[in-house]
Amino acid sequence: MIGRLNHVAIAVRDIAKAAALYRDTLGAQVSAAVPQPEHGVTTVFIALPNTKIELLEPLGQDSPILKFLERNPDGGIHHICYEVEDIRAARDKLTAGGARVLGTGEPKIGAHGKPVLFLHPKDFNGTLVELEQA
Ligand code: CO
Repeated sequence: MIGRLNHVAIAVRDIAKAAALYRDTLGAQVSAAVPQPEHGVTTVFIALPNTKIELLEPLGQDSPILKFLERNPDGGIHHICYEVEDIRAARDKLTAGGARVLGTGEPKIGAHGKPVLFLHPKDFNGTLVELEQA
């Protein structure tokens, strides 16, 4: 069911500093920072030959990554995103098997303008999993 690894997301306190680390120290291709108020984060995408890294900085008081950064003050891997062909079919199959989808269970439009949903980390080896319709 799952296809390519679309991205690995890393939560950071200072996205300019983190972007500079990837650009200058690691020599990667780094996008501009984009505020995504509807998701409570600012994002930077780092293009790698085989996948992407998504840097996430909290935006606003209700940011969904604030608690994560309280627990992980140095930042850390926040989620991994796999592509699926049909996100509703994937959700229905997973929920039928007992997996929990976060939020309303309906896909939302994610940072790339494509439908996404998140699966409960307790059902996936302690890892928050994002599914994105390819
Ligand atoms: Co993501």
